[in-house]
Amino acid sequence: MIRINEHYLKLQASYLFSGIAARVNEYQKNHPDREIIKLGIGDATRALPMACIKALHRAVDELADDATFRGYGPEQGYLFLRQAIAQNDFQARGADISPEEIFVSDGAKCDTGNFQEILAQEITVAVPDPVYPVYVDTNVMAGRTGGLENGRYQNIIYLECTQANHFSPEIPDRPVDLVYLCFPNNPTGATITADALTEWVNYARKNKALILFDAAYEAFIQDETIPHSIYEIDGAKEVAVEFRSFSKTAGFTGTRCAFTVVPRKCRAYDKTGSPHELHSLWSRRHSTKFNGVSYPIQRAAEAVYSDEGKRQVKDIIRFYLKNAERIRQGMEQLGFSPVGGINSPYIWVDTQMDSWEFFKFLLEKAGVVCTPGAGFGACGQRYVRFSAFNTYENTEKAMARIKEALK
Ligand code: MLT
Repeated sequence: MIRINEHYLKLQASYLFSGIAARVNEYQKNHPDREIIKLGIGDATRALPMACIKALHRAVDELADDATFRGYGPEQGYLFLRQAIAQNDFQARGADISPEEIFVSDGAKCDTGNFQEILAQEITVAVPDPVYPVYVDTNVMAGRTGGLENGRYQNIIYLECTQANHFSPEIPDRPVDLVYLCFPNNPTGATITADALTEWVNYARKNKALILFDAAYEAFIQDETIPHSIYEIDGAKEVAVEFRSFSKTAGFTGTRCAFTVVPRKCRAYDKTGSPHELHSLWSRRHSTKFNGVSYPIQRAAEAVYSDEGKRQVKDIIRFYLKNAERIRQGMEQLGFSPVGGINSPYIWVDTQMDSWEFFKFLLEKAGVVCTPGAGFGACGQRYVRFSAFNTYENTEKAMARIKEALK
């Protein structure tokens, strides 16, 4: 008799964003004439930078000629891309990361979800609350948790992020083996200072713990005192793995390209306490289960680091941040106290009511989609997240409609 992995039965019926999309589609089916403005999932709406498009065209032409055709690429990603990443994203900021420590992949969602596979079943896991649901769901699938009770899985340590701590998780009061951090934060838009990040790195070093640092939104950082990478902090290479993505930076949500940094010095331990390089374990997993991102897409990603690409990416970020500013300002004018949206494309708003109710109210009365905060964890109850990924016209229109609906 073939049996299922029963840990899957502990999960909520659908992944947060799939569940929201189904509700929106159902509403749209019953109201076909209603124009819906989506400020829900963080999906890029601006075209790829022209530098990337040109690189993409050139690479496609190479594939049309036997002399320049490429089949399987290196599993870890082409060296030209890993070199550009190491130089521009890390070495230029004083973080000593080498190309061989970078693994190119098809998404930070997959990598943050998959990384736990190379760690032991019985480790203790801490996540911020609210949290990007992928970190939690993948640990549930792996059997590291008990059942769901009052919106929380047993055996997970939830680090509450509230107004009181500026939506920044506090260091646990006990040893934890694995900690997920995401800055600039999804969903709250909060950022972390170098001092606070140093405390996390010191905690991890003291407890022989591992930090999985999701920096998918680092390109939105405007305040130059905020670290872009955890490797700007001394000692982080021993205890942290960092995830990055071209999705939100350069519009690769559809074309797919991201990368994970696993420093050579980063160790985890076997049951006898002997250290092992996570780099070689992740490399073993990556080469077994993944066949690389296509050559044209890696060339397009490389173009993000050209002078032209850098200028165009800055323009895209500025564009989304203008929407974010409009949403913040609009919600403030309506009497709310939004946070985020300054170094982040997400605006986190306390609605003073049930977050799914507010989601429904906004969909039905304003035709605007947001993401209910409760979907990110118990501390997200009463909150909703607005995403700045849309046109400025739609953002304006959405704010006008919300104002009307709340009258
Ligand atoms: C989000 O809206 O939180 C993200 O777009 C989801 C993702 O990147 O998977």
